[in-house]
Amino acid sequence: MAPTHQSDSVALTYDYWAPVYDLVFGAVFRQGRRAATEIARRKGGRVLEIGVGTGLSLSEYGEANSVIGMDISAPMLVKARKRISEMSLRHVTGLAVMDAEQMAFPDASFDVLVAQYVVTAIPNPERALDEFLRVLRPGGEIIITSRISAEHGLRRTLEGLLMPLTSRLGWRTQFPWRRYEDWALNAPALRLVERRPIPPLGHFSLIRFAKNEAGPVSAHPSVPT
Ligand SMILES: C[S@@+](CC[C@H](N)C(=O)[O-])C[C@H]1O[C@@H](n2cnc3c(N)ncnc32)[C@H](O)[C@@H]1O
Repeated sequence: MAPTHQSDSVALTYDYWAPVYDLVFGAVFRQGRRAATEIARRKGGRVLEIGVGTGLSLSEYGEANSVIGMDISAPMLVKARKRISEMSLRHVTGLAVMDAEQMAFPDASFDVLVAQYVVTAIPNPERALDEFLRVLRPGGEIIITSRISAEHGLRRTLEGLLMPLTSRLGWRTQFPWRRYEDWALNAPALRLVERRPIPPLGHFSLIRFAKNEAGPVSAHPSVPT
């Protein structure tokens, strides 16, 4: 499906990042990536990694996973493809250029969805989160690592000031937890499993949602604050 104009501009931004991405963001998000892939490894099964980028996390999945990576930026995926080949990552079964807001996968295609440092880069995150839920099988899990912005204080002010700059660089600094809460309220098949801070600086969180086995059973999913 054709990406939106907004997605086109995000894709272009990451096309420019591709040559230096690993140097700038490789180490800084390593612990968060490991926290997410460790859970996916434990769960096993078919994994879709959304916004897989240059594939920095692909070697961390286990033999019990078969992993497809997708990203809106083709140059980022060129790097991922090279990494897969150089490291002989046989558990990675495919890469696709695709928009997370309009995925080409059929419903309930995956056991686990992993989205690392990508939700705040997507122009319409709630639309993408709906897509995550659609392609996830009942009983499956969504694992997100992402910035959660501060509700008050100096950090909130700084995040507001930085927004115009970081938006040009390809992500938002302002993304309050309330956005996940509001989205989850409209997704009754969903349950929050875990939310915990991860490095760097605790500004980022690991967030896990499970899709109910039997489809929509509760009108009010439990989303602790
Ligand atoms: C900050 S990078 C994170 C890359 C990788 N997950 C990591 O941990 O290093 C964000 C990635 O999301 C991708 N992205 C942004 N918007 C997207 C969209 N709408 N659909 C798919 N990928 C998207 C970008 O191209 C980029 O590769």
